[in-house]
Amino acid sequence: MLTLDTRNEIDKIIEKYGSNRSSMITILQEIQGEYRYLPEEVLEYIAHKMDISPSKIFGIATFYENFSLEPKGKYVIKVCDGTACHVRKSIPILNALIKELSLSDGKYTTDDLMFTVETVSCLGACGLAPAININDKVYGKMTPESIVELLNKLREESTDEN
Ligand code: FES
Repeated sequence: MLTLDTRNEIDKIIEKYGSNRSSMITILQEIQGEYRYLPEEVLEYIAHKMDISPSKIFGIATFYENFSLEPKGKYVIKVCDGTACHVRKSIPILNALIKELSLSDGKYTTDDLMFTVETVSCLGACGLAPAININDKVYGKMTPESIVELLNKLREESTDEN
């Protein structure tokens, strides 16, 4: 059940972009920006407000790779495993992340919702291989050691913000 505040927030976003279907992607992007994912009950509420079937909106949300129906961490780490990065040892970097964050196959987000780890096939930064991307910032020439240092830095930054 959504709180009144959440419903008001969503109403504002729908009002801002208009409730015609061509605004749907923009509305979903903005809502995902707020929540870091698209909660099921939020999608149902949008469908109701915009008078579209829930299956249609779920279809859109699952079609686009950038949308997530699962909660993601504050920091989304994309490890590139494209050819250039793979040959420069991206897998040990991924393994270091999995070990350090106690993740496993099927578990990509830490319990504290701090980190999500994903793999991508090219970040367009092959000259910096092996490369990773964290919340849209690219980090190049990574090693298993430097990724752990970076995690610690992000943890510290996050603690300072609180
Ligand atoms: S293959 Fe990794 S950035 Fe292109």
